[in-house]
Amino acid sequence: MYRTHTCGELTLANKSQVVTLAGWVQKVRDKGFMVWIDLRDRYGITQLIFDEARTDTTLLEQAKSLGREFVIQIEGEVIEREAKNTNIPTGAIEVLVKKLTVLNASKTPPFTIENKTDGGDELRMKYRYLDIRRNPVKEKLIFRHKVSQEVRKYLSNEGFIEVETPYLIKSTPEGARDFVVPSRMNSGQFYALPQSPQTFKQLLMVAGMDKYFQLVKCFRDEDLRADRQPEFTQIDCEMAFVEQEDILNTFEGLTKHLLKEIKGVDVADFPRMTYAEAMKTYGNDKPDIRFGMTFGELNDIAQGKGFGVFDSQELVVGIAVPGCAHYSRKQTDKLIDFVRCPQIGAKGLIFVKYNEDGSFKSSVDKFYTQENLQAWADRLGAQKGDLMLVMSGDTDAVRTQLSTLRMHMAETLGLRNPNEFAPLWVVDFPLLEWDKESGRFHAMHHPFTSPKPEDIALLETNPGAVRANAYDMVLNGNEIGGGSIRIHDKTTQKMMFDHLGFTPEEAENQFGFLMNAFEYGAPPHGGLAFGLDRLVAILSGQESIRDFIAFPKNNAGRDVMIDAPSAIDQVQLDELCLKLNLKN
Ligand code: AMO
Repeated sequence: MYRTHTCGELTLANKSQVVTLAGWVQKVRDKGFMVWIDLRDRYGITQLIFDEARTDTTLLEQAKSLGREFVIQIEGEVIEREAKNTNIPTGAIEVLVKKLTVLNASKTPPFTIENKTDGGDELRMKYRYLDIRRNPVKEKLIFRHKVSQEVRKYLSNEGFIEVETPYLIKSTPEGARDFVVPSRMNSGQFYALPQSPQTFKQLLMVAGMDKYFQLVKCFRDEDLRADRQPEFTQIDCEMAFVEQEDILNTFEGLTKHLLKEIKGVDVADFPRMTYAEAMKTYGNDKPDIRFGMTFGELNDIAQGKGFGVFDSQELVVGIAVPGCAHYSRKQTDKLIDFVRCPQIGAKGLIFVKYNEDGSFKSSVDKFYTQENLQAWADRLGAQKGDLMLVMSGDTDAVRTQLSTLRMHMAETLGLRNPNEFAPLWVVDFPLLEWDKESGRFHAMHHPFTSPKPEDIALLETNPGAVRANAYDMVLNGNEIGGGSIRIHDKTTQKMMFDHLGFTPEEAENQFGFLMNAFEYGAPPHGGLAFGLDRLVAILSGQESIRDFIAFPKNNAGRDVMIDAPSAIDQVQLDELCLKLNLKN
């Protein structure tokens, strides 16, 4: 037996017991006549002691020769510590070692295996197996496991069946590029890795599976960000014989369960906001509603007063930032720099200070009277002491810019409390969105999403105005899940493909299997998928998903530890009938 106990469990209750432990050497403290070693495993740290008086000399010397991260096994007696460490559960005891076996030596690790390490990002990724030995990373993986377990438990109790769907498939359009895999046995042909199991889960509904879920890897070749990885995990779900309301209730139930079980937080029923409302009041389809600073549109009261910058624009819109009327010139200049940076690309920003004495001081006092500015304050809900920030431009662009500024102000003012959870549903997404590059409409969610019946007629006249039975779950300013009620009849699905610019041949070629299935009794159905990595990160109060993935990719999509992607042998290329045509 390698160990009788773990390094996290011995207490005074075990005093005088002879135990065997195994683990990694975290630290060796050598006082000459006495040596202490911190022995670490997944469960914690136990202090080992060797001393001249009670340990034989060879054993003492052996202890002194150990290096950091050596893997050892020891046998010894649990004794009470003289100087207790109240910070760790095992801090009242130590183990007086009688026998020591080195199970494996270790090179000196390239960074310290401590909670706060000296290793940079790239180095930690290269030696990810060492990084995972560190508590903060290890704990994130354990946390993820707990969330996954709770998800499985909840959904299984609700009657959902976990079904695995294939990874070598045909393209599923979710808006990103596919990763493709060449087929040796079918030369010149490729599988696509699923961007999601969307079509398969719909086929499972046709197959009568009724309530399906799967914790499943999805693959998307898209630009990476803190909340995006090329392979990530979804909690993918689908239900038959349901309306949107049933789905929202089921998955609101799941989210409440997770918040309760994992965070001990009770949340009220989730507010619902239409997409149009979210864009108008937050400039964003994933609003962070933990704080106010909602948008107020000022066109009717700010235009036509001689301030040319506003007069010519489609939208004049502002927010009131609480308690910032005292901002200095330097601070307001910084905000201008912020909105002018290339990522935001605004031309400028107007400030109005609502002073404590009730007066207003603005950068546009020349054009606006105190009464005018009072009307702005009323519209934006500004209080005395607040700073109003106002921007103008094309509606979509200015909303995005002001939304970024709103988040920036919230961050600066510490309003994004990671221990507060403010979920909501954003509903009634547009069915289609205009894609400037290709000059045509694309499905905003995916082409299987059903239009709202009352909007179908608009498909011919004003396709951009058609709303879908599509919804997103948003938590603390992040989209953690999204889904829709699906089209379940061949005629509507054909019409959708037609509107999306697929020729009948293309539609048949890519999705004939689904449309065929719809001819064999497809039930009404719908579903959604959560991003598990995002959900886990946000429940932990963080926005970067990378540390919640055991072996993530870097921003260039590379796994620097195994050095992938990498070139393959000519033999392999020949077998696959592939010829490279590299530019350089
Ligand atoms: P969607 O594309 O909205 O919907 O994806 C669902 C959720 O998956 C997460 N997500 C990601 N997480 C990490 N890295 C990525 N690259 C990434 N892309 C998406 C998000 C998102 O909300 N088949 C549909 C679902 C359905 O209609 O049922 C789908 O995949 O949290």
